[in-house]
Amino acid sequence: MLPIPVFQTTHGRLYKGDCLQLIKALPGESVDLVFADPPFNLSKSYSSKMDDNIPHLEYLDWCRAWAIELVRVLKPGGSLFLYNLPKWNLPLGAFLMDYVTFRHWITVDMKYSLPIPKRLYPSNYSLLYFIKGTAPAIFHPDRLPIECCRHCGGEQRDYGGYKDKMNPKGVNLTDVWTDIPPVRHHKYKRRAANELALKLMDRIVSLASDPGSVVLDPFGGSGTTYAAAELLGRQWIGMELDCDPIISRFENLELDREHLNKIHQGKNRLFTKPSLKLRAQNGFGTGKYRMESSPTSEEQEFLALK
Ligand SMILES: C[S@@+](CC[C@H](N)C(=O)[O-])C[C@H]1O[C@@H](n2cnc3c(N)ncnc32)[C@H](O)[C@@H]1O
Repeated sequence: MLPIPVFQTTHGRLYKGDCLQLIKALPGESVDLVFADPPFNLSKSYSSKMDDNIPHLEYLDWCRAWAIELVRVLKPGGSLFLYNLPKWNLPLGAFLMDYVTFRHWITVDMKYSLPIPKRLYPSNYSLLYFIKGTAPAIFHPDRLPIECCRHCGGEQRDYGGYKDKMNPKGVNLTDVWTDIPPVRHHKYKRRAANELALKLMDRIVSLASDPGSVVLDPFGGSGTTYAAAELLGRQWIGMELDCDPIISRFENLELDREHLNKIHQGKNRLFTKPSLKLRAQNGFGTGKYRMESSPTSEEQEFLALK
């Protein structure tokens, strides 16, 4: 049986304790989206004082134990995302292939780790994406704006001369995500090393859930998944050994709301507002592109500047 949540909102419930035991208490086929970002066994110190340096096989056994429980609680067509180092996601992904259907190995480009002597500079994390059954029940990936030069606003890539054929809502999302920033801004950062970007969680929650869907993250950390879920109107189930950072984050959720609004201004459109301004200043038009039929305020601004 689930214990009493240590914290509740209109949309979510946060449980304090060992996630393996807590997940076991959840009913089967009750969750639409699971996102799991466990400790990576890198000897980091966590406020929960958990041991992040255990033998290789023990770590994998532990991951398999909770991963199989996560599969159990997923609804048919539900999505499972696992975020980890490639080193751990390789064996975990191979294990999960027997239970769920592989969709993507998403590479999240993240260049803020330290170089390791005699190794290549590690600059990506692995985001495994599986679904239960053969077809996803929910799948609406964001579209991204055209990548423009930060200085002049010109296109960074050649879209093959098909400007007029491009979707006015933006470019298709690929399985390599290069636009996720490290959480550095002191205004948004809450914990030392392991807080994920709100932009990453907005993308995943938007892709694989609808308003009212149930989102589960068994490794709460600073609560980024829960903040995204709450603000996007999803129901969420949270689990964590040390819940204090999550509870204090929710005391000032307006910061996340403001941040999320900014993130939303940068997706599902062909050009961001700053790019449109730069393009106008430097004589790049949007003429050949198909824009949304009723011009957005950014487009109106661009046309006025022209
Ligand atoms: C990598 S962090 C998650 C960070 C989170 N995604 C965020 O954006 O802030 C992993 C978290 O899992 C928690 N944790 C570790 N073992 C746990 C367990 N058995 N049950 C619940 N939480 C656990 C740790 O305390 C740590 O905060």
